[in-house]
Amino acid sequence: MSFARSGVRPARPVTPVTIAAERLHRLAERLDGDAGAEARAVAALIGGLDPYVAACTTPESAALRALAERTRTHSWGSGPLEQEMLSGHVEGRTLAFLVHATRARRVLEIGMFTGYSALAMAEALPTGGTVTACEIDADVAELARSSFAPSEAGARISIRLGPATQTLHELADAGESFDLVFIDADKGGYADYLELLLTTGLLASDALICVDNTLMQGEPWSGAEASSNGAAIAAFNRAVAHDPRVEQVVLPLRDGLTLIRQV
Ligand SMILES: C[S@@+](CC[C@H](N)C(=O)[O-])C[C@H]1O[C@@H](n2cnc3c(N)ncnc32)[C@H](O)[C@@H]1O
Repeated sequence: MSFARSGVRPARPVTPVTIAAERLHRLAERLDGDAGAEARAVAALIGGLDPYVAACTTPESAALRALAERTRTHSWGSGPLEQEMLSGHVEGRTLAFLVHATRARRVLEIGMFTGYSALAMAEALPTGGTVTACEIDADVAELARSSFAPSEAGARISIRLGPATQTLHELADAGESFDLVFIDADKGGYADYLELLLTTGLLASDALICVDNTLMQGEPWSGAEASSNGAAIAAFNRAVAHDPRVEQVVLPLRDGLTLIRQV
């Protein structure tokens, strides 16, 4: 069904791979002969990567599929929130895998949106495990809450409404600590969130920090004019790379996922 008939805007490309694939497809359409054939071959190589990775990855649960569909068809209006913010199947499965592998019991999420990554991690927790999810937007938090309600794993998630910096201070003051933290809120806040995690006792020993969008649509290296998010991520990546307190690796998964541990 078309956008006009369904009223649902198709997701736009927001990762280096999907942006490159779209641009290559457009380029291929403009080229003839050998150059056109070569451009189509490269477009097929790049454009087929994400679907192939998704097809080879364990499928998402029915609850996650329903949450993603609800996010896709929600009417987002002209505010700052949009369906493209949702992390999705492969990244959700990656986070769940990391929860399993680290045997995390207490997970902190900074930036919940409609709750996809929170629920993906909650599904991977052992009995008694918890996800504390920070979100500043009351309406989207309510949407997430109603999506969590029917699922058993959803009961493991507690939502903290408000600016994440304030919530992190409150959690630290209450003596809380976490085995795994997923940072995925405002990009300009990333440096402060990391600093708070490293200095206020919020990290359990051997805690893993996962940080989303650290490739920010390729802006840090592609020569494209950087948005404020791109500039914030480039500065964050530089600071992390030179921070002797941490070890890190940037995984080129979706829009970039950096794994960080305190050393
Ligand atoms: C990219 S979305 C999170 C996506 C989510 N982790 C997922 O996988 O579906 C970022 C979210 O962070 C929230 N946010 C932005 N600034 C925030 C802040 N200062 N404190 C808490 N949440 C914030 C936004 O309202 C938005 O819902």
